Amino acid sequence: MGTYKVTPSLVFAITIAAIGSFQFGYNTGVINAPEMIITEFINSTLSQKLGNPPSKELLTTLWSLSVAIFSVGGMLGSFSVGLFVNRFGRRNSMLMVNVLVVVSGCLMGFCKMAKSVEMLILGRLITGIFCGLCTGFVPMYIGEVSPTNLRGAFGALHQLGIVIGILVAQIFGLKFILGTEEHWPLLLAFTILPAILQSIALPFCPKSPRFLLINRKEEESATKILQRLWGAQDVSQDIQEMKDESVRMSQEKKATVLELFRSHKYQQPIMIAIMLQLSQQLSGINAVFYYSTGIFEDAGVQEPIYATIGAGVVNTIFTVVSVFLVDRAGRRSLHLIGLGGMAVCSIIMTISLLLKSSYGFMSYICIVAILIYVAFFEIGPGPIPWFIVAELFSQGPRPAAMAVAGCSNWTSNFLVGLLFPLAAAALGAYVFIIFAVFLIIFLLFTFFKVPETRGRTFEEITRAFEGHADDAQEPGKSSALELNSLQPEKEPVAGV
Ligand SMILES: *[C@@H]1O[C@H](CO)[C@@H](O)[C@H](O)[C@H]1NC(C)=O
Repeated sequence: MGTYKVTPSLVFAITIAAIGSFQFGYNTGVINAPEMIITEFINSTLSQKLGNPPSKELLTTLWSLSVAIFSVGGMLGSFSVGLFVNRFGRRNSMLMVNVLVVVSGCLMGFCKMAKSVEMLILGRLITGIFCGLCTGFVPMYIGEVSPTNLRGAFGALHQLGIVIGILVAQIFGLKFILGTEEHWPLLLAFTILPAILQSIALPFCPKSPRFLLINRKEEESATKILQRLWGAQDVSQDIQEMKDESVRMSQEKKATVLELFRSHKYQQPIMIAIMLQLSQQLSGINAVFYYSTGIFEDAGVQEPIYATIGAGVVNTIFTVVSVFLVDRAGRRSLHLIGLGGMAVCSIIMTISLLLKSSYGFMSYICIVAILIYVAFFEIGPGPIPWFIVAELFSQGPRPAAMAVAGCSNWTSNFLVGLLFPLAAAALGAYVFIIFAVFLIIFLLFTFFKVPETRGRTFEEITRAFEGHADDAQEPGKSSALELNSLQPEKEPVAGV
């Protein structure tokens, strides 16, 4: 396969797609800063309606609901990815779902004016559904338009979009920007602007050439798009690779979510996809972010929000580092380095938290450990789980696999958010030992089970998995001739 250059039209298409990632990050981060203000809004709204102030429990429940329902929406959305992408295509799916943002942005933006807590909660739910869909659409589209030699770098741009979104939300949420009693509805409604921008620009982005050729059999338009996107006249080899995949897809059973777990040839890659998503969330990254505010306060940082923003900056810088490294060093090695570094940092965090009361300087060690931990996260476990799923599956099973992986991510994210405060209350500083244990388990799993996908075409990657599952496959499904052409020409990927 040829090595292709970075062309303006490729950069444009991927940047526009990554607005969806930005939306996910923004809506994840936006709700944290104005907690007090929104709780007051709920309090005063309910006080007026009920005639007397609501109980503290009811307030806390409603606040938690407005935060958590976003994740519920995310689970629903991520699981519905397959309903869209084959029917409407990758690009048009991204375009269509922007309607959800306009609806949810209006609901949240006008909830204060309408004195309606229901609108706030419904808006958060719909935003969550949209973000869940984005976590499937964006990595899939990026994976399908990128040439093999740049697939990792562009895939990591999804994570870059997310962390920039979180950072922008934190900055906009500052008290002197939009984090005020007056302006917080605008803070929530801001998400409409990127949606409009994306809706205007997406029609100028190409459709996924793999979708056109493999799902729609439109070879001519796929060739044209590839030539323009990759800045090369001769893309015949890549077209041939897609055709091979197309032939194989027509022989396969329809790849539903159930089929992913039933069929031997998918069991290994879907297991890897799920484990990598779990490794991202159970690494404790969100718990550390949550906990860090208190640690920064203890260390004497007057406005902990600035320390959180500082962590967000580190987050962004190291995601950029990963963009440049991931096609050189490889996914597997970066994921291993990231998990290992995080495990060491979480042990240092535990020790420094335990010794903090005896030695004041331990607070600073803890802060440094947190920042390095965040850096290691963005080197591997942040970006890689998102795009490697698109790499592990061929065109047929890819939508179902993205749905399963996305849903695992949202669910584990939700559970960590729910259970971490309880665990932290029960275990104190030792809570980070739990994450260290998880990290070591995922490190071992990655070492033994996760193949390197860098520089390999989708064909080569899936064939290698099938090479492993060949003995397990039911015979008689393909003719001898086809079987012959399915033999792996290269060493199997797994275990390299
Ligand atoms: C809710 O508002 C009332 C005043 O209307 C106030 O007395 C009460 O403390 C508030 N509750 C909370 C939990 O802030």
